[in-house]
Amino acid sequence: MAADSPREQWATRVGFIFAAVGSAVGLGNIWRFPFQVGQEGGAAFLLIYLLFIVLIGFPAMLVEFVVGRHTKRNPVGALKRIGGGVWQYVGWIFIATGFVILSYYSVVAGWTIRYTLLGLQDGYLGDAAEAEAQFVTLASGLDAILFHAIFMAIVIAIVAVGIQRGIELAVKVIVPAIVVITVGLAIYAATLAGAGDAYSYYLSPEWGTIAAEWQSILPAAAGQAFFTLSLGMGVMITYASYLDEDRNLAEDGAIIIGFDTAIAFVTGLIVFPILFTAGVDPADPGAGAIFVSLAAAFGDLTLGWLIGAVFFGTVAIAALSSAISLMEVVVSYVVDERDVDRATAALVIGGAIFLLGIPSAYDLVLLDLFDLFADQILLVFGGLLLMILVSWSLSELAVDELERGIGDLGSLGPVWIWTVRLLVVLVLIIALVLGILDYYE
Ligand code: PHE
Ligand code: NA
Repeated sequence: MAADSPREQWATRVGFIFAAVGSAVGLGNIWRFPFQVGQEGGAAFLLIYLLFIVLIGFPAMLVEFVVGRHTKRNPVGALKRIGGGVWQYVGWIFIATGFVILSYYSVVAGWTIRYTLLGLQDGYLGDAAEAEAQFVTLASGLDAILFHAIFMAIVIAIVAVGIQRGIELAVKVIVPAIVVITVGLAIYAATLAGAGDAYSYYLSPEWGTIAAEWQSILPAAAGQAFFTLSLGMGVMITYASYLDEDRNLAEDGAIIIGFDTAIAFVTGLIVFPILFTAGVDPADPGAGAIFVSLAAAFGDLTLGWLIGAVFFGTVAIAALSSAISLMEVVVSYVVDERDVDRATAALVIGGAIFLLGIPSAYDLVLLDLFDLFADQILLVFGGLLLMILVSWSLSELAVDELERGIGDLGSLGPVWIWTVRLLVVLVLIIALVLGILDYYE
């Protein structure tokens, strides 16, 4: 499709919400969230994270929405139009971020496919040391590259087909499935022996932990809030750019954030009871910990092979709708701004992302580094620049656009703008500085 043919749009009213929820809900909720909670001290992290979702994530999501719907452009084109000059390079940061995130995201998604098959074929190993050894074999090297390739091939196929038939249809099946399965697993997990201890670890924050470790909790929570809501790299700009009607963006944002937060929260109610019941330490850091400990736990449980396969299968599906959105940012840029058709763009870009993911598939240490760099530095940096631009120099445009579909915001308009100008920007600056220090530590 050439740049001058009519731009695509969501087919139905709910298509946009489903797609945005599908983007938000993914490995961020089910893989990254529990290991961040474990690494950053349990309930203390959860509390700060929830605060950031509401105070930082919600206003920031509205900023991305208004930019996308106002410009009807991919992130680079959008920033060129509203910011002009050097601001288009912020769009470039978004695209680079999408490249980096999808490269390792797909590797982790590949593990989830592998672990689904593992449950169905051989079952899981109950012994933690054996599970660890098995993870090392499966999660790095040729196995990991093979499943990374399979996952990217699926993503390429869906994105190549386009917005309405590909993305919108896929998420309409995926999102309801995730909701049903996570709630079912949480009910199951509540019956486990370790549930009580797990709940107090997960749900009652120790103020001492926050006071002592805020330097690492803060950037981790801010980065996780952006990652989980798909903010800071133009996904929500891109998805809102396919909107035509005057939707109430604040309402849509609240629904999307509600779903994402609920699924992350419920995942904690699944993961921690299983870990505590199996006697696995939730503080085990690192990208692989959740796979090793969960597989070991599933290996110990009655019908664990089935519960595990359902769990990992669900995660794989959730990862798919997020990966689609990551790739769509890059593809929409090439389709809009260059004379390239969607299928070719998807194939070439997907192939390049596959190659970039190979180091992560070879070595878990590299994967951890990619993840930390993308999450605590790239996302936060790109997001920060966008927030500064829109809240400080385009506030009138932003409020006008948000009012389309809502009506007169009255004093809520300035409240939103000032929240972004001061609170969001300040928290992101602090998170960025602490995140950089943390990364180079
Ligand atoms: N929000 C997705 C998740 O939680 C990940 C993601 C990040 C997707 C950034 C798009 C952009 O898994
Ligand atoms: Na998420």
